[in-house]
Amino acid sequence: MQKAKKRIVVFLVAACLGSVALAHGGVKNAAVMARMEAMKSIGDAMKVMGTMAKGKTDFNAATARAAAADVARFAAQTPALFKAPEDDPKTEALPAIWERFEDFTTKAQETERLAHGLAQTVETKADLDAGLMLLGASCKACHKEYRK
Ligand code: HEC
Repeated sequence: MQKAKKRIVVFLVAACLGSVALAHGGVKNAAVMARMEAMKSIGDAMKVMGTMAKGKTDFNAATARAAAADVARFAAQTPALFKAPEDDPKTEALPAIWERFEDFTTKAQETERLAHGLAQTVETKADLDAGLMLLGASCKACHKEYRK
């Protein structure tokens, strides 16, 4: 992959993953925990593809497709997991989610659509690189508006 493009992918993936390490400790509301767990799983799957895109792990189409399918699966669960305006001192979710839930849902569907597409089509590393950029941008589009 081109150097500049590679940096963008690395940046986008890092931007999506954010502060995963400190996010979970002490969450008391089970519904908030469940949606955080789903997001963590999305992040883990994204990391599998990201390390491959970076060249830190060997490209493997089947592994990349499976990771993309995981992202699609959790993205599909996202609207239901976030539907109730559950709160917790540890949550990073912003109240705007429930003011514009339709838009939030659309953004989750966009991530699902892109991830589903990747899960169906990745054959080469170039496919992964290109797809991952769009997918990473879709995570960011939601986090930018709806996550602290
Ligand atoms: C439709 C909106 C939306 C989309 C799309 C989305 N996220 Fe999130 N994500 C959130 C919200 C909101 C939170 C904060 C949840 C909370 O703290 O209650 C979050 C939290 C996270 C977390 C932190 C989880 C934790 O441990 O607390 C990670 C990691 C994450 N998202 C990764 C991703 C990745 C990677 C993608 C794209 C493949 C993605 N997200 C797509 C809304 C979204």
